Amino acid sequence: MYWHKLATKAIAEAFEKGFSRPAPDNVLQTLEVPPDSSLGDFAFPCFKLAKELRMAPPKIAQTLKENFSSTQFERTEVKGAYFNLFVNKEAFASSVIEDVLSSGDRYGSSDLGQGKTCCIDFSSINIAKRFHIGHLSTTLIGAALARIYRFQNWNVVSINHLGDWGTQFGNMIAAYKLWGNPEMIEQGGVQALSDLYVRFHKEAEEDKALLNLGREWFKKIEDGDEEALSIFNYFKELTLKDAQKVYELLGIEFDSYAGESFYNDKMTPVIDELRQKDLLTESDGALVVDLSELDMPPCLILKSDGATLYATRDLAAALYRKKTYDFSKCLYVVAYQQDLHFRQLFAVLKKMGYSWAESQMEHVAFGMVSYEGESLSTRKGKVIYLDDLLKKAQEKAYDILLEKSPGIKDKDTVARQVGIGAVIYATLQNNRIKDIDFWWDRALNFDGETGPYVQYTYARCQSVLQKGAEVQDSPDYTCLESAVSQEALKNLYSFPKALQDALNRNEPYIITRCITDIAKSYNRFYYEERILTENKEQTAARLALTRAVAQTIKTGCGLLGIEMPDKM
Ligand code: ARG
Repeated sequence: MYWHKLATKAIAEAFEKGFSRPAPDNVLQTLEVPPDSSLGDFAFPCFKLAKELRMAPPKIAQTLKENFSSTQFERTEVKGAYFNLFVNKEAFASSVIEDVLSSGDRYGSSDLGQGKTCCIDFSSINIAKRFHIGHLSTTLIGAALARIYRFQNWNVVSINHLGDWGTQFGNMIAAYKLWGNPEMIEQGGVQALSDLYVRFHKEAEEDKALLNLGREWFKKIEDGDEEALSIFNYFKELTLKDAQKVYELLGIEFDSYAGESFYNDKMTPVIDELRQKDLLTESDGALVVDLSELDMPPCLILKSDGATLYATRDLAAALYRKKTYDFSKCLYVVAYQQDLHFRQLFAVLKKMGYSWAESQMEHVAFGMVSYEGESLSTRKGKVIYLDDLLKKAQEKAYDILLEKSPGIKDKDTVARQVGIGAVIYATLQNNRIKDIDFWWDRALNFDGETGPYVQYTYARCQSVLQKGAEVQDSPDYTCLESAVSQEALKNLYSFPKALQDALNRNEPYIITRCITDIAKSYNRFYYEERILTENKEQTAARLALTRAVAQTIKTGCGLLGIEMPDKM
């Protein structure tokens, strides 16, 4: 932001000198960064001023040019309605590099979130189901957002809103009592539970009595029956233990596992409140909140048999979170398919008089994942499980390493970093709403826009730095005036802004893009310029750029959850 401020200040001064009055603040904010730097490093559009000044935009730009003076800019020009500024390249290089290097691993961090809390509901897996790739995006996007907010000093509460309530758990217990036993579950894990569930449904088609049995068991869970609860809690522990392995591998932790069942005793007050506020209407014996004025179907609150619903629990959860955490933001990282659910939820809260629902809650939606061209989580009828996917990623990365760099030590660690990094990168590469089609060849390619490519660039920087470790001279930043150097510097300079945009839009891919641009521009620099030369001051400058690049890549990737190997 330093250079934005310099440019703004210098333009404001030129304006005052040229027009004998202060420049309007809102106009100064329109300063642009042209995508093509031949049009300037900053461009100031003058057409908005034309009316007020009764002057043609090119004329305004010309006046600004005539009155402009700042040693930090080497040149200015008038181009149409624009007043373009070109930075002093040496000053730009030294300020950017010194800023990065003096910030260490905090480059791009700020206090913008000081005193504010953000609740992030993500991953939110379902009990007795194996963690499959349908939950990959929510897990990785949510964890990235948690880090991104923390980096700007927000207080983050990460919440795994477990799917641990519903009649299906009655069926599960019934199936377990009929055909299961502890040994089989011990051995088969969550998969054995899913198998039991499948068998239950198959047999229930023939034998309807099974469904009654399931209902009875669910009633028992609801009534707090000891046996029912102990079996159910056993299922829950098992599922969480399995999921924990995945979370550990991905470096993810939760502050709360309060799931759907946590709200069992917190819904009556909500229903009472809805009734008091006269928002409930009856429909076929069920209680709903009518949302027809918003062109939405009614939000179902209580079924005719008195059972509560997913939405009822989310209402209770929203109120609980507001009361417990006093959040300024509450994010739900959940697939786009639940769009209607969240619109209904926010609408009901608003009708209850909670205006914060609209301003502070957000459904952070994302598209579907398919796997090598086949649709979500099924491949030839089989589900793709996350632990399998991550295992395969590491194995494939290991094989590639064996082939490409047989000499490196601790291949297991590097294979883990590269394999998992590839999966994370592929998931956080594009804006959320875009569907993802995951291909191994693409994700693990060392060239192109991939995790391994960025990691490889980082490792390349490390090796350059090692070779130049002896050079202690002070850098001559005039050696970074070439187009390739300046491009890399510009990308480094834009990193803090990318972090803020990523936060404001809840879009981790903005960071992925920025990191990739940094890596690409560094590689161009690497191929076009010799870094280690006889000229020590020149070498020092190019090493400083290398160090700044490595450090920024590491920080950015760290926010996404991607680790950096020193050698690759
Ligand atoms: N368990 C749900 C699912 O797997 C996601 C829950 C999202 N969070 C929420 N508060 N509704 O689809």
